[in-house]
Amino acid sequence: MAGTAQAGGVAPIPDHVPPELVYDARITEGPEFLAAPHKYLAGLHHKAPPVFFSPGSSHMRPAWQLLKYEDAFFVLRHPEYFTSLGSGPFPRDPNDWWNIIPLEIEPPHHRKYRAIVDPLVSPKRVVELELSIRKLANELIDQFIDKGECEFAKDFGRPLPVGVFLDIMSLPRSMMDEFVRWAMGLLHAQDHQVAQQVMGEVTQYLNAVIKDKAAQPDGGAVSAIVHGKPGGEPMSGREIFGFVFFLFIAGLDTVFATLNNIFVWLAENPERRQEIIDTPDNVNNVIEELLRVFSVTFSGRTLTQDYEIRGVKMMKGDRVTSILPSCNFDPDIFPNPTEVNFHRPRKPTLAFAGGAHSCMGAHLARMEVKVCLQEFLRRIPNFGLKAGTKIEYWPGAVIGPKLVPLSWG
Ligand code: HEM
Repeated sequence: MAGTAQAGGVAPIPDHVPPELVYDARITEGPEFLAAPHKYLAGLHHKAPPVFFSPGSSHMRPAWQLLKYEDAFFVLRHPEYFTSLGSGPFPRDPNDWWNIIPLEIEPPHHRKYRAIVDPLVSPKRVVELELSIRKLANELIDQFIDKGECEFAKDFGRPLPVGVFLDIMSLPRSMMDEFVRWAMGLLHAQDHQVAQQVMGEVTQYLNAVIKDKAAQPDGGAVSAIVHGKPGGEPMSGREIFGFVFFLFIAGLDTVFATLNNIFVWLAENPERRQEIIDTPDNVNNVIEELLRVFSVTFSGRTLTQDYEIRGVKMMKGDRVTSILPSCNFDPDIFPNPTEVNFHRPRKPTLAFAGGAHSCMGAHLARMEVKVCLQEFLRRIPNFGLKAGTKIEYWPGAVIGPKLVPLSWG
């Protein structure tokens, strides 16, 4: 979650950056990236230095880029050198600033904020949600199965995570289409004006919801936040808004991009689809491997002091992006990294980052992917991309295809 359309910009390369370490990778928007993003990010290991400086683009701020798993692993676990403060990429008024919570709260306070919402997506809670996720998946499939085709992203990949999320937040499912539009507008709009307008709509809606839940508490995440007391004190209005807003942004597009990427691959690889169907007991390894090869986002930090990685001197105030999808293709950690191998020895992927800020929704996301895979393959085991389809990817900080037209039968 290192950048969006609103956050990027090309700035002069700082003087301390050696010219040989400048590499304009155009991650998130260059033609090679957009043609096949995961292939491109895997290939960076052969093209770019392991630590390089990218001048920035309309989606990413100028920053040091880390390709190696071990480097990202270290950065994510050392907030004393690499802070997430100010890393939130969304348009905010500098005169009316609010932090994106919990990402922009550092340890030790961070834990108090996570404790407010973690129980709503804990492993135990996610198991309790499994039935309702399965039900929603089947309701969505019911709507298109007899047609012999669907536009997977629109008909399944987006509505499913939005429905689950609305349930967790205790918000009405009737808001489904609006939430999809807002998430797409904030994360993928290339036009700053569109992003600003969507930001205004989201702000207005969330503020109204926050007011409602303050008056009428319920069991959902918005209510938990509104009434939460990190360290025993109620949160300010700005904190509450930053918390609710970030859950909305973090929990939607990431899951839809993941599902859409996976289903393009399944459509193109019928024999691997069959392998998944034939080995139901291996489903958890299947999910981990698919999350590794289709990890969808990035992690941005800022240096609190000068620091050196692999002999590269970085200075206080420099930004550092862990290119998590590339780290998950690091050949030193995952031999034959681009091979999709469901029997790989277990090694945690960085799809959900790591350290204090590792993804709060990881258990939920895994469950959503698992249920979708199981239910879709159970009911529609044979499908392919519609004839003549050319998959196009969104530019931006969450990697996923725009459309996934499938057909079967
Ligand atoms: C496949 C789906 C998902 C992926 C790949 C993903 C990825 C990530 C990553 C990489 C981070 C770390 C960001 C950083 O360090 O800068 C993160 C953090 C976070 N994610 Fe997710 N995420 C997913 C789903 C979700 C869901 C479903 C939710 C909410 C229900 C969620 C909520 C959060 C929150 C709140 C944080 C910030 C945690 C903190 O700062 O303590 N994510 N996610």
